[in-house]
Amino acid sequence: MAKIIVTREIPEVGLSLLREANHEVIVAPHDRVLEKQELLEIVQGADAVLSLLTDTIDSEVFDAAGNQLKIVSNYAVGFNNIDLDEAKKRGITITNTPEVLSDAVAEFALALMLAISKRVVEADKFVRENQFKGWAPQLFLGTELDGKILGIVGTGRIGSLFAEKAHRGLKMSVIYHDIQKNEILENTLEAVQTPLDNLLEIADVISVHVPLNEHTHHLLNKEKLSKIKKSAYLINTSRGPVIDENALYEILKEEKIAGAALDVFENEPELTQGLAELDNVIVTPHIASGTIDTRNEMATIAAQNIINVLNGEDPQFQIV
Ligand code: GLV
Ligand code: GLV
Repeated sequence: MAKIIVTREIPEVGLSLLREANHEVIVAPHDRVLEKQELLEIVQGADAVLSLLTDTIDSEVFDAAGNQLKIVSNYAVGFNNIDLDEAKKRGITITNTPEVLSDAVAEFALALMLAISKRVVEADKFVRENQFKGWAPQLFLGTELDGKILGIVGTGRIGSLFAEKAHRGLKMSVIYHDIQKNEILENTLEAVQTPLDNLLEIADVISVHVPLNEHTHHLLNKEKLSKIKKSAYLINTSRGPVIDENALYEILKEEKIAGAALDVFENEPELTQGLAELDNVIVTPHIASGTIDTRNEMATIAAQNIINVLNGEDPQFQIV
């Protein structure tokens, strides 16, 4: 019987799968992010750890667990919270939960794009604060998206799905920046690949879908952000540190771009001071993949990845 540590309560379907496979399953007793010391204690003697994107999994955690640790199964598509080099060195398998969350995140990016360009959140607040005194010709004028240019930064599964939904649903034309040419997007959506600077200069909406790594940290720094058009919106559902949040705050405060809708932040759960007070910003608490269906599927896959590895089989989604 293997010992499996789950660092926080996840949907029951995943936990049941692990228990039904006759493993000892220990779920951290607090419904919050574990302190480093708590994490180091709970992983001791684990054969498998089911981790969350809020857990930093590094050499200290691997040491604390012990040599029998075979797999860390991350309940997320992103894996920037895990030291992959260290895992590889020690022969520990690392897995993630891609694909099942792509539609949920792409839909959320669409929701943010519509909400920011129609000023939905700002207007909702206005009504709740009893400021609505009747219809007015110039009240909360927004931006139409039909026929506008959508610039996708990173055309993996999520970026591609969002591009498709925006192109087919809203008739937006798609340009993209990626390290690889995306023939499928070019053939199906007439998408055009372009250097990042050009994308930033011409897109009406820019949406970020790259993984966080040393090449994408502050990919949108002050200099890049300054290229965005005054009428354009920026959407981020990927990882906060891809954008220099302080620089973005300054640009938004000075109204150098039309607005930003952000589901992720550079120092989550902290936000750059003043950011949440700006009217041209929508902020949501990292919930893009948070549909009931998707979270159940993520739990199932994260559990199945562990079961496979403990059985000596290949997991469905292996990173190292
Ligand atoms: C969410 O941000 C994820 O990486 O799954
Ligand atoms: C993640 O699933 C991506 O490839 O965008």
